[in-house]
Amino acid sequence: MLSKERKEKLDKIIIRYPQKRAALLPALHLIQEQEGYISKDAMQYIVDYLEIPFGHVLGVVTFYSMFYDKPIGRHHIQVCTNVSCQLLGAETLVGHIGGRCGIKPGETSADGRFTISEVECLGSCGTAPMMQINDDYHENLTAEKVNSILDSLK
Ligand code: FES
Repeated sequence: MLSKERKEKLDKIIIRYPQKRAALLPALHLIQEQEGYISKDAMQYIVDYLEIPFGHVLGVVTFYSMFYDKPIGRHHIQVCTNVSCQLLGAETLVGHIGGRCGIKPGETSADGRFTISEVECLGSCGTAPMMQINDDYHENLTAEKVNSILDSLK
């Protein structure tokens, strides 16, 4: 399942810990980096490789919003809808972004370009409202700013 290079990387991480299972988060990151998401087969690979129960892996994958258990769009738009962002218009922005992309939160556009997710606090409350697209934060958002960001995405 993991490429030779990523498997070697994981093996180097595993030996840092007294138990293989402690390498679960890095293992999941490596799988997701390679595959784009973590399928049931990938979870089973981790179960076998790290010798941990399937339910444990499934629980971690589905708990953290940074892990995806199904394919997502090329641009994953995660809009924070927690308190500070909520108070400064996050819901309106979610509707605006959804209108621009033609999808609702939790959906991926038919062309595979966009996935929109509503997420909890991303630790950038002082620059609310904000969103994260892939690895980049976009802060102090307005509808105009969102338009310009979306227009810049390929
Ligand atoms: S509430 Fe949105 S970043 Fe914290």
